[in-house]
Amino acid sequence: MLPFQHAVAADLSSVNDMIIKELHSDVGLVENIGHYIVDAGGKRLRPILVLLTAKCLEYPGQRHVDLATIIEFIHTATLLHDDVVDMSDLRRGRPTANARFGNAPSVLVGDFLYSRAFQMLVRLGSMEIMDILSNTTNVISEGEVQQLINARNPSVSEADYLTVIHKKTAALFEAACQTAAVLAGAGEAQKRAAWQFGHHLGLAFQLLDDLLDYEGDQAALGKNIGDDLAEGKPTLPLIHAMAHTEGAEQDLIREAITHGRIDHLADILALIRRCGSLDYTRRKAGEHAQAAEVALAALPDNSWRRAMEELARFSVSRTY
Ligand code: IPE
Ligand code: IPE
Ligand code: MG
Ligand code: MG
Ligand code: MG
Repeated sequence: MLPFQHAVAADLSSVNDMIIKELHSDVGLVENIGHYIVDAGGKRLRPILVLLTAKCLEYPGQRHVDLATIIEFIHTATLLHDDVVDMSDLRRGRPTANARFGNAPSVLVGDFLYSRAFQMLVRLGSMEIMDILSNTTNVISEGEVQQLINARNPSVSEADYLTVIHKKTAALFEAACQTAAVLAGAGEAQKRAAWQFGHHLGLAFQLLDDLLDYEGDQAALGKNIGDDLAEGKPTLPLIHAMAHTEGAEQDLIREAITHGRIDHLADILALIRRCGSLDYTRRKAGEHAQAAEVALAALPDNSWRRAMEELARFSVSRTY
């Protein structure tokens, strides 16, 4: 167990129990697919973020467990939908739900998880938290649609890319930290700092995810390598390489993006390595992890804050 998981181990176990309880449905297939993805594990980073932020801000109650479960359900719904739109067939070390059960059940069970999360939010009863999370799910959808529009377009800029990863990924990290701060009754400055931590952590996390799609180890990652290239997704390694090549080399990358082809993966990998594009992506991720740590200065200095620092470091040293 990683140290930051250890810091909230008991609460995380309560989250896992609540996940199982709240997956309940009278429709057998809903529960089967829900369990299929949830039982495969996952790092549970977003619920851990909720728990750590609440504890760091000295929240005395138990409702952080409900909030953490809600956030993990929203995350799981996005994964079910994401694997359909990305046509991915491996997640958490096993066939994706769409590969195992088909696209239609995956989309529908994703909807079930979203709406279950909102049923639980109503029970939680905080209009401020509901406001943040309804905006967040809306923004995530926009990010995924914008990414769809950007696919196969070699002119996408680094700024365009950052907008997408902010919306599709960092938004939920921001919301996890911000809503936990709201629950803890934190003041405006600390709510803002919690948001900032989630913001930079989420950007670092997706930058690393996009790097691992090129140079990760499939077995460790539990996902297929090369999915982004196969879809013609202009992520930062390709955007950087486009800007640092010309002539035939640039044509190779442009073609790969335009046609979404993985057959030249080895050549492209060699090229983006030589351009320093993977190093650049890792450096940018590191800068955001560092900025996340800086944001923590406004939170109480305790063992939970130190666990949050470790989580920021893990986000850029991880191999899975
Ligand atoms: C995957 O998130 C989706 C991204 C935003 C890259 P995680 O890597 O946190 O997925 P699990 O929950 O650990 O499987
Ligand atoms: C996922 O981005 C973002 C979500 C909102 C789910 P990716 O498509 O890169 O995530 P993985 O690599 O499939 O986990
Ligand atoms: Mg995907
Ligand atoms: Mg995706
Ligand atoms: Mg990815």
